[in-house]
Amino acid sequence: MMISASSERDYPWEIYTIKELLHATNNFHNDNKIGEGGFGSVYWGRTSKGVEIAVKRLKAMSAKAEMEFAVEVEILGRVRHKNLLGLRGFYAGGDERLIVYDYMPNHSLITHLHGQLASDCLLDWPRRIKIVIGSAEGLAYLHHKANPHIIHRDIKASNVLLDKEFQAKVADFGFAKLIPDGVTHLTTRVKGTLGYLAPEYAMWGKVSESCDVYSFGILLLEIISARKPLKKLPGGVKLDIVHWVTPYVQKGAFDHIADPMLKGKYDLAQLKSAIMVAMRCTDSNPENRPSMIQVVDWLKGGLRRTKEVSYVQDKFNEDNDNDTDYEEGFGFENFNVERKI
Ligand SMILES: Nc1ncnc2c1ncn2[C@@H]1O[C@H](COP(=O)(O)OP(=O)(O)O)[C@@H](O)[C@H]1O
Ligand SMILES: [Mg+2]
Repeated sequence: MMISASSERDYPWEIYTIKELLHATNNFHNDNKIGEGGFGSVYWGRTSKGVEIAVKRLKAMSAKAEMEFAVEVEILGRVRHKNLLGLRGFYAGGDERLIVYDYMPNHSLITHLHGQLASDCLLDWPRRIKIVIGSAEGLAYLHHKANPHIIHRDIKASNVLLDKEFQAKVADFGFAKLIPDGVTHLTTRVKGTLGYLAPEYAMWGKVSESCDVYSFGILLLEIISARKPLKKLPGGVKLDIVHWVTPYVQKGAFDHIADPMLKGKYDLAQLKSAIMVAMRCTDSNPENRPSMIQVVDWLKGGLRRTKEVSYVQDKFNEDNDNDTDYEEGFGFENFNVERKI
């Protein structure tokens, strides 16, 4: 039985019964499995009311898994934003820990950039721009609007999901941290994913919003180029995407950076501006990185510069609710590309 009808609750999620979730997922049948993560598997399901859901089932019960469950439910339960994955509810009983989300029919960014769907080329340039801006807005909300502020700590392609309109939804809050008012940074055990970790976090465990900004910059380069954040070279050395991209930026060879699958169908000014935003986000000094609010402004400003590209603009207007005040633009001409790497 569900706790009560949504109109009587002051929270937007439900406590499910195990019976309902077993029924929805066909007893967590292997054919229903849609994802696998560090702590559990994710299954597609349909509720008795006909709603499609995704259910994360934590693998083995351990103190760590229990913590991840609690963090994810607590954090997702308090946020609501068009670019954050919606929590529908959860179940906790015996050895089962289940988290129920809205189902995202277009999977995660990773399947489009490097996985099974890459060859379908579903991510054209306007969609990539919408995804980049949407995920930036989701993060800006976490950093600046949520109360207390939230640092995600695991921003990466597999944690950005896509709804049926290819709108980005930031997901996977198992590593997230709530930041009490007045605290500028915390020192913690390092979690997250190699290739996306800000240097000060990877080395000293220093966490602040700017760690997410760094990871976002890596993700931005990945979305533009469809290159993995770390590429294994022959001999086992790994080349990170920032080192790969920097010589092209210095030479102004931006078209070498774009994903070949785009077949040249992108707006060069937008491409440049997005790359320069990514370079700022991935500055090795956290103090030089922009805030996510600044990033959103720059990205939207970069779009406005290229108004004449009508097909991009038209597509984009669909979800541009306040496109009046992007005066500032992004002055990438002034950016010093002679950065040390
Ligand atoms: N709501 C959802 N809709 C569709 N697929 C999802 C959903 N949630 C998760 N997945 C898939 O499952 C994978 C793992 O989910 P995630 O929340 O990132 O778990 P983990 O903490 O184990 O990494 C995702 O990368 C994605 O492919
Ligand atoms: Mg994940």
